[in-house]
Amino acid sequence: MTPTTSLDIPVIAIDGPTASGKGTVAQKVAEHLGYHYLDSGALYRLVGLASFKKGISTASEQELAPIAKNLSVIFQGDRIILDDEDVSDQIRQEEMGRRASEVAIHPMVRQALVTRQRAFRQKPGLVADGRDMASVIFTDAVTKVYLTASAESRAERRYKQLIAKGFSANIQVLLQDLRDRDERDANRSSSPLKAVEGAHCLDTTSMTIEEAVNQILKWHQVN
Ligand code: CDP
Repeated sequence: MTPTTSLDIPVIAIDGPTASGKGTVAQKVAEHLGYHYLDSGALYRLVGLASFKKGISTASEQELAPIAKNLSVIFQGDRIILDDEDVSDQIRQEEMGRRASEVAIHPMVRQALVTRQRAFRQKPGLVADGRDMASVIFTDAVTKVYLTASAESRAERRYKQLIAKGFSANIQVLLQDLRDRDERDANRSSSPLKAVEGAHCLDTTSMTIEEAVNQILKWHQVN
């Protein structure tokens, strides 16, 4: 009998641009199946925050890579603890989202986070959301989804999310920032955002969260 390896554990990879609803949808799919959940963007946000606290520029790949490698982070339910401090709200600020997308262009930073991301693959399964889940981190994912929505509806969703968290926000500024991030994510040389072959494309512009979740569960069932 061949021993079970982590490669036998099913992964659902959900990739897509900023504010496409990946996080919410991925968490609900994971809950429904009783799977673990990896929010890979949080790791880039943590590198953005940890480097900010140390006064390190997002351009300094050499200084950022060890920060990414040595992040002392604990995921406790929906709370994220960095160096004994609860930073769950801090990393959601727009400034940290921007810094995350700037640190994410560096190959050494991305490389430093690979093992940490793969360690989330635990029984009975994993739902992972990000930009390169299907193309780099879990290339053997059993279900691959590319989730998107129009830029305008993504800006509106992000606006509502920020207001609900008590942050101030301006929709025009958010729209411009989102376009800048799309541009950086899609055009970087290391792991650019793209839909891989075999991925199911889901445009959620006029879909509810439940509809998106149900569609992914259906795709996963037939795999
Ligand atoms: O919430 P939003 O979709 O804007 O971002 P996120 O998923 O929290 O990720 C923050 C940033 O990290 C993104 O803008 C990407 O540039 C980067 N990222 C990445 O490069 N690769 C991933 N697997 C996840 C995030």
